[in-house]
Amino acid sequence: MNRKKRILSGMRPTGKLHLGHLVGALNNWVRLQDDYECLFMAADWHALMSEYKDPRRITENTLDNVIDWLSCGIDPAKSTLFVQSRVPEHLDLFLFFSCVTPLGLLERCPTYKEQLRELKTREINTYAFLGYPVLQAADILIYRAEVVPVGEDQLPHLELTREIGKRFNNLYGRVFPDPQAKLTEEPRLLGLDGRKMSKSYGNYIALSDSPETIAEKVKSMFTDPQRIKRNDPGTPEKCNVYAYYRMFAPGQAKEIEAECRKAGIGCTDCKRRLAGILTDFLAPIREKRAEYSAHPETVRSILAEGEKQARHLAAETREKVREVTGL
Ligand code: TRP
Ligand code: SF4
Repeated sequence: MNRKKRILSGMRPTGKLHLGHLVGALNNWVRLQDDYECLFMAADWHALMSEYKDPRRITENTLDNVIDWLSCGIDPAKSTLFVQSRVPEHLDLFLFFSCVTPLGLLERCPTYKEQLRELKTREINTYAFLGYPVLQAADILIYRAEVVPVGEDQLPHLELTREIGKRFNNLYGRVFPDPQAKLTEEPRLLGLDGRKMSKSYGNYIALSDSPETIAEKVKSMFTDPQRIKRNDPGTPEKCNVYAYYRMFAPGQAKEIEAECRKAGIGCTDCKRRLAGILTDFLAPIREKRAEYSAHPETVRSILAEGEKQARHLAAETREKVREVTGL
């Protein structure tokens, strides 16, 4: 049998996880677990690079996010779950990589330029933040991961990772594979207001939201802007509520589509029904969340086991780095 390819992916624990994370990343992670050797990492050092004023929050979010991962079906019997800052080998490789990464590559990185422009609430004009992608390269290559499931926004970081790995290999000898990005096929889930679902826009439904909160949030969703009166026929394609039906209740989408077009259903009813669908959809996750939250020691021991496995793999790579560099 062929050896399974190795995957590494990560999320920054900067806040609660929401439906966008589930559809965009977590569901994908869950599916990959059988076909790949998977490592899933809470990137708390990366969170620190923008949230350094409140590191305790990062640690709280880390546990909370890992509880969400487990509740969504990430299985510690199949995959390795760990916290980045527990594996110091990342930093050692980060330093090697820092030496072979020209400043210009980092300064030109589109995500860097965008964040400097957009993220006005944080002081990120720092040495560390410029090096964000270099640490990400170390995260990936310290495990010699071959496949990296990420969202499209992360592609520039993947390109930098490949470039940095190549530079290292050319200079010292081949240690690192050329990792491939793996994009999710799922269409993007938009937020309540029709923009990208994001913590900073406050337009999300959290995996941990109560049925009441879900109902309130769904009520506030933007609909077809041309459907003003109850008797106006609607255009479902222009309505985000309908997009949610297609994603979470495809079996009911046809009916909603037809009813909306002939003004057979009103938006208030349509949303009330969607709130019920989402509440049911999240019920098993909510139940598991409650269980893990009541037993944080279980989660901690899963992370301790993951840390052990991750450090073992990282140490192997460190040894190879020592062989080719002599340092
Ligand atoms: N930069 C990623 C994000 O913001 C998180 C991340 C850190 C990551 N290290 C990684 C993702 C390594 C994939 C692989 O989502
Ligand atoms: Fe959207 Fe439903 Fe209203 Fe149609 S009836 S516009 S699908 S909320």
